[in-house]
Amino acid sequence: MKSVLFSRFFILLPWILIVIIMLDVDTRRPAPPLTPRPYFSPYAVGARVQLRRGNPRRDPEKRNASRTQPHPEPPLPTIYAITPTYSRPVQKAELTRLANTFRQVAQLHWILVEDAAARSELVSRFLARAGLPSTHLHVPTPRRYKRPGLPRATEQRNAGLAWLRQRHQHQLAQPGVLFFADDDNTYSLELFQEMRSTRKVSVWPVGLVGGRRYERPLVENGKVVGWYTGWRADRPFAIDMAGFAVSLQVILANPKAVFKRRGSQPGMQESDFLKQITTVEELEPKASNCTKVLVWHTRTEKVNLANEPKYHMDTVKIEV
Ligand code: UGA
Ligand code: MN
Repeated sequence: MKSVLFSRFFILLPWILIVIIMLDVDTRRPAPPLTPRPYFSPYAVGARVQLRRGNPRRDPEKRNASRTQPHPEPPLPTIYAITPTYSRPVQKAELTRLANTFRQVAQLHWILVEDAAARSELVSRFLARAGLPSTHLHVPTPRRYKRPGLPRATEQRNAGLAWLRQRHQHQLAQPGVLFFADDDNTYSLELFQEMRSTRKVSVWPVGLVGGRRYERPLVENGKVVGWYTGWRADRPFAIDMAGFAVSLQVILANPKAVFKRRGSQPGMQESDFLKQITTVEELEPKASNCTKVLVWHTRTEKVNLANEPKYHMDTVKIEV
């Protein structure tokens, strides 16, 4: 009886060992990273993994993902996001939301332009730890323009444009797409997939804007023929700043195209700028012929600081 048990045990032993070894090998395989780059990484500026979503053959964001392709694909156009920003209690929260989005987008360069006389420590520290390729600029809005009813961020967007033109003045421009990303809006990752293929100027709907659930370009046979909007429908381009992207080539080919202070009213900045570089007929509709909302013109509520102490402050100084 004993010897039968023994012989069974020795027959089973190698199989048990094989199963244990196989399980061990499988769990040791490193898991793929969830995010393309580690947060707070000092070596974050190198190559990045593409977004892992959708059908690989149809998803332009995945073009470079396969290492087994016989021919290397042309490089992904860089998305340059110009963000004007100004100091206020919610600034760091807004920038954190934005960086959390941008960090998931391949080949994105963030041009952050402070509305200030100098670069602030808060934004400098933030950018240094953000794990994103970025450029930190600043230009103050002249006091006379800091009034309700006047357009915002004109000087800051122009500073971003000037930096782009300066950077590409001596070299043949690599493919690139420019997008004005205000710090308080909400951006889906799909939006970046859509705008990356911009040939000249592309457009798409914007949610929660103009006193409506959304505004959108009206499209017929692949062309923009009008605008669905509830506010100043007479605008030549009835579109919010978050509703279009421009190729780097177009920015370089029109070196004088800028945002103007003189005569510009709020809501007309987009039209004034777009008029200088394109026509309505030329616009490229994105987001399924402008039938999907992929960006929202959200606005953050002013925070209540009524109970901030004037005396008996906290014993430590904390950046918020
Ligand atoms: C709307 C449009 O969506 C903006 O693109 C446009 O610049 C603005 O109107 C306008 O009136 O000119 P809205 O939500 O009213 O946007 O404007 P904000 O989000 O308050 O400001 C737009 C951007 O400019 C933000 O990124 C904000 O941080 C920045 N900003 C605002 C400054 O840099 N300085 C300021 O004094 C105010
Ligand atoms: Mn806003």
